[in-house]
Amino acid sequence: MADSPVSHHPAGSSAETGNSEASNEQRVQMEQAYQQMQRKMRIGKMDEQIKHKIMVLSGKGGVGKSTVATGLALSLAREGKKVGLMDIDITGPNVPKMLGLENADLNVEEGQIHPAEGPAGVKVISMAFLLEDPDKPVIWRGPIKLGAIQQFIGDVAWGELDALIIDFPPGTGDEPLTVSQSLPGIDGVVIVTTPQEVALLDSRKSINFAKTISVPVLGVVENMSGYTIRGESEPNSKISIMGPGGVPIDCQSDNDGRWEVTLDVFKSGGGEESSRELEVPFLGSLPFDPGIVRGGDDGVHRIIAEPEGETAKAFKSIVEGIVEQLEKGSQRSLRII
Ligand SMILES: Nc1ncnc2c1ncn2[C@@H]1O[C@H](COP(=O)(O)OP(=O)(O)OP(=O)(O)O)[C@@H](O)[C@H]1O
Ligand SMILES: [Mg+2]
Repeated sequence: MADSPVSHHPAGSSAETGNSEASNEQRVQMEQAYQQMQRKMRIGKMDEQIKHKIMVLSGKGGVGKSTVATGLALSLAREGKKVGLMDIDITGPNVPKMLGLENADLNVEEGQIHPAEGPAGVKVISMAFLLEDPDKPVIWRGPIKLGAIQQFIGDVAWGELDALIIDFPPGTGDEPLTVSQSLPGIDGVVIVTTPQEVALLDSRKSINFAKTISVPVLGVVENMSGYTIRGESEPNSKISIMGPGGVPIDCQSDNDGRWEVTLDVFKSGGGEESSRELEVPFLGSLPFDPGIVRGGDDGVHRIIAEPEGETAKAFKSIVEGIVEQLEKGSQRSLRII
């Protein structure tokens, strides 16, 4: 590192010791210790510079954590907040793809990585930016993964932020544990679930995990909760739709002939039910929306493609719930977003 004092004043130079190998080793160790110290100082400063830090977790894979994490970041940014999004999924980082940032170039200045800028000015950092070949599977041994995560946290120049959203791989493994131990002042965890029983069971584990690491649960988001189909027919006529499992669903068209039916693709209300049972806030549901899949593939998030659409509105309401929880938390720490 250019500003490292140890590179200018190596301790025990070869002239003094007569052993150039030992001195080089010492120099490397001192260099590492210096970097580690700088990283620690920067992480300490992050607590002052970043008002709120929110972890997005789920027990089960594929329930929509990355979709929710990017949606929360975009939704907050559209309200004028300064937002950062950190993708800690080392083996399957996909936030850059969702935000059309796959080819982003990162700047490194004075040993710090500058995040890429995504839609609505969201600052994004992802392991995907640092992997040489994103298609190659990455196998990390525990300690290496831990070190990489700490570097990832301490070496990024976020600047001042209102909120930092952190996306994780599924489950309650090393990643959320390391982040919760390395990053001071985490405000809380948002848990994403689908309405199925298995996903719910797994989200109970996430709630217990949050309790174990003493981080508050800001609430549960139920994703893919219902798929609404709409149509037109004769005004005030009876419509019968064949729902999931061949169960007929009846509805009535309105005076203009419009009708809509929401199909519970999995089940519905499970997220709310388990929140109540586990005494954590329920933040709201996101509809099953094929546009989310398209958006994920095209790199244009649903909130950007359709800012007034059903999904964007659902995100707005979830963000309001989170802000409410943060304000409750700030009554203790006197920090308001
Ligand atoms: N509400 C939704 N409606 C329709 N499709 C959705 C919805 N939410 C997420 N998806 C789709 O489901 C898939 C998984 O979503 P996502 O990658 O966000 O899940 P994840 O929990 O981050 O997965 P992983 O555990 O692999 O990190 C993606 O193809 C995404 O587009
Ligand atoms: Mg993900």
